[in-house]
Amino acid sequence: MSRLKIGVLISGRGSNLQALIAACAAPDFPAEIVLVVSNKPDAQGLDHARAAGIETATVAHGGFPDRESFDREIDKHLKSSGAELVCLAGFMRLLSTWFVETWHDRVVNIHPSLLPAFKGIDAHAQAIAAGVRLSGCTVHIVRPEMDAGPILVQAAVPVMPNDDEDTLAARILEAEHACYPLAVRLLAENRVKIVDERAVMMTPEGRHRPLIFPPTE
Ligand code: GAR
Repeated sequence: MSRLKIGVLISGRGSNLQALIAACAAPDFPAEIVLVVSNKPDAQGLDHARAAGIETATVAHGGFPDRESFDREIDKHLKSSGAELVCLAGFMRLLSTWFVETWHDRVVNIHPSLLPAFKGIDAHAQAIAAGVRLSGCTVHIVRPEMDAGPILVQAAVPVMPNDDEDTLAARILEAEHACYPLAVRLLAENRVKIVDERAVMMTPEGRHRPLIFPPTE
């Protein structure tokens, strides 16, 4: 089986990276991580990568005159690693149009809300302030606009009355760890086509019940 080579970009904790590392450890998973790049030298996620024997690189954004030259350096690392898909996993830099177009339809991101609701860095606070009963997470193909692009996988997660940002983030994070490997699998198995800026794929037939919160009884 030939496995899709992925490069993962991180900025911090790296729990989604860990979920991807765990998924890739299964012999039948159709992707492998060939490189992890961080824009922060002390990102905890770099340790997870090293522990798993994955090549790492740090490209500190401070050393570059503009966004595109920083992105070109990341691109160089990705190309020399042989990466075919780029996964943003808590990567807190907006990528330039140049980068997104160079890697057109080959960059994916995970965001902790049901996009297109609650874009940006404070998604959990926005969900709590809006009083929604369900929030969640989204894995999507990246476009130059922040948190935009064809949606691959979403999970809906209840918002509890007493939630603060941290408790909601923790509940959503658990769903993220299931959604990201699933999205990578769908792409690696060539089960997704982008048509008119929507991701089209076969989904299992059958009755899929609505998720109602709070439950009716
Ligand atoms: C995750 O919750 C991810 O969805 C979010 O940052 C966290 C990273 O956690 N990303 C964004 O908000 C991007 N807009 P991790 O480093 O443990 O994977």
